[in-house]
Amino acid sequence: MLSRLICMALVLVLCPFFASRANAQGNASGQPVSFIRDIAPIFRENCFGCHGSKNPKGKLDMTKVETLRKGGTKEDPIVSGKPDESHLVDVLKATDASRMPPRETGAPLAAAKIALVERWIAEGAKVDGGIDTKSDLVKELRKRWSPPALLGQYSFPVSVTALAFTPDGKQLVTSGHHELCVWDVESGKLAKRVAIRSRRAMALQFLPDGKLVMAGGRPGEEGDVSVYDLSAPAARQDNGVAVLNGVSDPKVLVKRLLEADDEVECLSLSADGKKLAAGGCDRLIQVWDISAGIAQAKLTDTIENHADWVFAVAFFPDNNRLASASRDKTAKVWDLKAKESVATFPEHQNPVFGVAVKADGSACYSVGEDKQVRAWNLTGDQGAKQIRAMGGAGGAVLKLAQHGKEPWLFSAGADAKIRQYEREKGNQIRELAGHKDYVLSLALNPSGDLLASGGWDGEIRLWNPKDGKLIKVFNASPGLKVVAAPAKP
Ligand code: HEC
Repeated sequence: MLSRLICMALVLVLCPFFASRANAQGNASGQPVSFIRDIAPIFRENCFGCHGSKNPKGKLDMTKVETLRKGGTKEDPIVSGKPDESHLVDVLKATDASRMPPRETGAPLAAAKIALVERWIAEGAKVDGGIDTKSDLVKELRKRWSPPALLGQYSFPVSVTALAFTPDGKQLVTSGHHELCVWDVESGKLAKRVAIRSRRAMALQFLPDGKLVMAGGRPGEEGDVSVYDLSAPAARQDNGVAVLNGVSDPKVLVKRLLEADDEVECLSLSADGKKLAAGGCDRLIQVWDISAGIAQAKLTDTIENHADWVFAVAFFPDNNRLASASRDKTAKVWDLKAKESVATFPEHQNPVFGVAVKADGSACYSVGEDKQVRAWNLTGDQGAKQIRAMGGAGGAVLKLAQHGKEPWLFSAGADAKIRQYEREKGNQIRELAGHKDYVLSLALNPSGDLLASGGWDGEIRLWNPKDGKLIKVFNASPGLKVVAAPAKP
């Protein structure tokens, strides 16, 4: 499952269609090599993973020009003007164990890229004006990156990694490719598109004032928590659909809460609407006090309680404790006042993808790679004790949703099905079948009479949670031309 998620990220990275402008530009052989445009991206892609600022291999931190030129266990690996005398070039060209990136991690750097590094050194290993030798190159590269223009028509289906109903329940917001799409629930028609910086949204949460918080980013490259005003004026119309500029129009992008080095995966709003939490691939959970409004949001806590990616967060009804789910195979509970971890739930023994807290705070529910929905409470040795496991799923369970009024839990995942359980007894009430691919997202509308599910293949299904009847199906990829399957011979 995880490998599939990672594959998806890689497909998007590798597909030339998606290549960012900076990468696509390349270097015309006539002009001098630019460090920040041509060389730093090569280093980021191939070297920063081991030569980052935290515990760099060979003590060589390549993320700043200053530390790169200081060298690691050896001296400065670059002799300006002399590529043949530069250790950095030696290791790129080496055919023995000294080769970088190391042999066990795969192929050597492409010859054209090595040639570019050599040319840069031959031209004096200069650094572009405006870039301080102390600058964090990851941040410098991020600043120079801009998202691609919106696709007029999708030629591929987009995975629906997140969805949320608008507070009036009339519209459904879905994650697109560098955009949020707003669909009219009644007609299933596209009502609005909001261009955003993030490649995809991983979580969407409406605030009490009607603004929309999005967590997402670009896997392995950047993380983002931003707030959008969907009622702001459109920048233009595209095929009769309003297009809002959520990349640079401050009326649309009203606040950027977080800029991280890797994708942000999840959000939770406290019951009193005064606190917002986000968690992601940097293993951290951030909490903001938004009681004075989102414009005055204040970061109050940065919680390092997990050893791996945080996939889900959920506030307890007391607005003080926070449940979380992680790739580190645990679900945990953090007490914000005491500033300490109060429970660890290890029973999944596999990555945990989702977590929810019962409205009275007496139980937590979590789902994971182990195909189970597990109910637990805050008793027992490590502060958490399993009440029951609810099985039946044919694959990893990725998402969990709780009905606001009825005692129902909904889970969904790799087996393309949604399962509805009775929360107190743990019995499965029904199974909602019809998706043909992984179900990646679930959302209930505010009145609780519609359940939306979003698939890997872009398919959105709207269901009646009371009887499991399918109400509507549409694809969340604007303008997608559905290609008929080839006829079987
Ligand atoms: C998978 C991890 C990994 C990656 C990726 C990697 N390196 Fe290394 N690098 C190492 C390790 C480990 C050492 C220490 C080797 C030793 O001391 O024998 C090292 C050492 C070095 C050194 C010598 C540093 C010193 O002063 O001792 C240089 C130069 C270097 N790497 C350059 C690069 C470059 C350039 C890239 C990207 C093209 C790269 N490395 C990618 C793991 C990596």
